[in-house]
Amino acid sequence: MIHKTLKPFPKDFLWGASTSAYQVEGANLEDGKGPSCQDVKTVPEGTSDLTVCADQYHHYKEDVALMAEMGFKVYRFSISWSRIIPQGTGAVNPKGIEYYNNLIDECLKYDMVPLVTMFHFDMPAALDERGSWSNPESVDWFVNFSRVMFENFGDRVKYWLTINEQNMLTLVGPLIGTLTIPEGTENVIKEIYQQNHHMLVAQAKAMALCHEMLPGAKIGPAPNISLVYAASCKPEDVLAAQNFNAIRNWLYLDMAVYGKYNNLVWAYLEENDATPVFAEGDAEALANGHPDFIGFNYYNTSTVEYSGAEDAAGKAGDQQSGTAIPGVFKPFANPNLPRTEFNWEIDPIGYRNTLREVYSRYRLPIIITENGLGAYDTLTEDGKVHDQYRINYLRIHIEQMRLAISDGVEMMGYCPWSAIDLISTHEGMRKRYGFIYVDRDEFELRTMKRYRKDSFYWYKQVIESNGENLEDLK
Ligand code: BG6
Repeated sequence: MIHKTLKPFPKDFLWGASTSAYQVEGANLEDGKGPSCQDVKTVPEGTSDLTVCADQYHHYKEDVALMAEMGFKVYRFSISWSRIIPQGTGAVNPKGIEYYNNLIDECLKYDMVPLVTMFHFDMPAALDERGSWSNPESVDWFVNFSRVMFENFGDRVKYWLTINEQNMLTLVGPLIGTLTIPEGTENVIKEIYQQNHHMLVAQAKAMALCHEMLPGAKIGPAPNISLVYAASCKPEDVLAAQNFNAIRNWLYLDMAVYGKYNNLVWAYLEENDATPVFAEGDAEALANGHPDFIGFNYYNTSTVEYSGAEDAAGKAGDQQSGTAIPGVFKPFANPNLPRTEFNWEIDPIGYRNTLREVYSRYRLPIIITENGLGAYDTLTEDGKVHDQYRINYLRIHIEQMRLAISDGVEMMGYCPWSAIDLISTHEGMRKRYGFIYVDRDEFELRTMKRYRKDSFYWYKQVIESNGENLEDLK
């Protein structure tokens, strides 16, 4: 659809950016914090561990001031479960509560809305030892953790996100360092989808609890959503695309919004003798959790083709490269899309496609909780980072977002990944995403000083003009 006139971004549009606790905070065992699964995992060879990260724990005032300088209306960050409840259940750590109180107050000082992700890939290690999400008690653990957050921060935090990228925990958990498969598991698919079921019930209960405890607060999910394209107009390829759309995307949003399993996913699970066991009250809990908005992370689309039962099983990919499931779909490299230095496809029009599809399926306002470019950045001798490539990437996505708004999609906000450089899920510190450069290397910590990248000044201009001025800086 070609629009003669573009609709503007809404007046109260939430421009900002995102981070997550385990990737940005550091101080991983300081002031009473318990270890999380990220602190005890073996990091991929050649990449930094997660002990210091960007050291935001000790630099939060400076970081929030820089975000305020860019004009952020919102800052999306996550709360580390094991910082506020070191063993995952039981005693609460006052120092952890104090840290997040300070961070929230610092945001509010600048009229910046704190958008809190309740869980971003960092299960307390103590709960990992008790079976993590495979333990049916995990639902209660999460609800208790939610209650502690609502009690302590709910007077000031009005926007909550439940579980970051639950679909990636399910599809590529080992890569992210989060999946525990109990020894001796025979049916791995069943085990994974049972864990997924516990997360879905936990999420639904947390949404209901939020509405009960914090009238006026808003809560939503935060999966990683990318529309799946068919490799061709062959009907078989379209079926494959429907299959992967269901498995990758709609399972999570259908559940969050309608409280029901997607029928194609259910059929796939039945085929694999892998349907999850419902505990008493689960169906009711799922039906009772309602999001107020949809948050999702978008990096690029996926493309798949038909797969016959005789095809080989795929090698596990990462969040964006997918895998193959024989008889269901297999990935196809889209020849129409360029790629980043880290081999992720770049598809801004796919962003518009995805926004249109999500909105027409669920009719809830949307906030983008991640989108961005991982790249090698260089700090020049005079303290600059010329990341024109990041500006180009963000510009073409913001343009497409405006077209989606003109298509009638109700958008609440945009939080690219990431506010500041941090450690990637599996590709270390060298894969940088931030508007703010942190002076450290993969292994050498250097000064940890913060520098404004070119994209910092550009994004400031975008926010100041409420998305009207996407021009290069003069
Ligand atoms: C998302 C995650 O998958 O993508 C973030 O929510 C992550 O935690 C981001 O950092 C970028 O991925 P990566 O693998 O480049 O760090």
